[in-house]
Amino acid sequence: MSITAIRGFNDILPTQSEAFRLIEEEARRVFTSYGYSEIRIPVMEKTALFSRSIGETTDIVEKEMYTFTDRRGDSVTLRPEGTAPVVRAFIENRLYNGLPVTKLFYTGSMFRYERPQKGRYRQFYQIGAEVLGEASPKVDAEVLEMLMGLFKGLGVSEATLEINSLGDARCRPAYRKRLLGFLESKKAKLCNNCVRRINENPLRALDCKNPGCVEATSGAPTIIDSLCDECRGHFESVKASLETMGIEYRVNPRMVRGLDYYSRTSFEITAAGLGSQNAVAAGGRYDTLVKELGGPDTPCIGFAIGVERVALLIKERAQKSSPLVVFIAMGTEAEKRSLNIIKTLREKKMKVVADYGTGSLKSRMKRAHRMGAAFTIILGEDELKEGVVTVKDMEKGVQEKLSPESIVERRISQWA
Ligand code: HAM
Repeated sequence: MSITAIRGFNDILPTQSEAFRLIEEEARRVFTSYGYSEIRIPVMEKTALFSRSIGETTDIVEKEMYTFTDRRGDSVTLRPEGTAPVVRAFIENRLYNGLPVTKLFYTGSMFRYERPQKGRYRQFYQIGAEVLGEASPKVDAEVLEMLMGLFKGLGVSEATLEINSLGDARCRPAYRKRLLGFLESKKAKLCNNCVRRINENPLRALDCKNPGCVEATSGAPTIIDSLCDECRGHFESVKASLETMGIEYRVNPRMVRGLDYYSRTSFEITAAGLGSQNAVAAGGRYDTLVKELGGPDTPCIGFAIGVERVALLIKERAQKSSPLVVFIAMGTEAEKRSLNIIKTLREKKMKVVADYGTGSLKSRMKRAHRMGAAFTIILGEDELKEGVVTVKDMEKGVQEKLSPESIVERRISQWA
């Protein structure tokens, strides 16, 4: 039997990679315009980095990490996310000694042993951005504006932003106690997993998808009602800035997120048309993580985008974004003449494939169709005599004769 890929590890085939490229290019452009610089982090880290930052009692650390011992016997883990490695790099390279605020972005694959389904894989790609060293609620709003702007630019129109505040070390302990009291009274209805970790991490019960837990926690006290004055003030300020910027949002007081490092603002963006795995990006503040990992007190905020999910949404648009032109030259003289035209078109950033078929024009047109041509340019004897080429729009089925100079000058979308 032939060897297949590992379950949940996918090939990104040419039909999808165009969407990946578009998303990455647009993200790079947008993030750079907000002053972010790229960081490339390793795919593997010491296991302790993730268990300490994401939280021992989260699903990710409990059951989803690709952890193994290397040849020296050290425990290493394929990164399940990028925030902890960025913070580790920030501390290790003393990036806090440079700029007052450090803005970083990264792209790459993450690894989580989850049950694969549409939009959920074991190796998946994220684009993430992190702001380290800024406490102002204005930056929370700016981060959200940047993210929503990116989705708009990519043509993901039906994206919904949900926000919540998770409080901080001052107000969360009291909320935990209230929630724990409530959950104790509903213990009989909770799943075994939630009952097991109810004491260490009662907030996880709000994130559990088990129908019994969803029902049992429907009347649970919300963190929003337990915020201290500082956290409330921060949250109100973020909301006011979003309103000033004209960014629509919904407060979801039950959103707790699957990682323990968050404090204050947390958020998730969902999009229509993806089924159950509909979160296209998520993130929030993690004001204590840098200190907890041995660095100076540094308030931070960031997010990560799920590239596969966004790619599913923009697939069609991506395929149309750089239409393929197939050039059919009929005969030796036309082939010679075509070389220069093709070269110039490519220099104008058009995607041109020279067809080296030998059959009739009809059979070569069929080949061009099978190659996925959006346009075909034909240079035959007649065209040579007239000093023109024939441009055919394959979808509309219409064609016109144009001079080589004018096809170079006109954008493809204006042809035919
Ligand atoms: P996360 O919510 O775990 O956050 O993941 C962010 C996004 O990655 C999700 O909204 C989803 O689009 C995508 N994603 C997660 N798991 C999978 C999977 N198994 N298959 C496909 N896509 C997936 C984080 O990772 C945080 N590090 C975000 C962050 C950055 N917070 C602060 N800074």
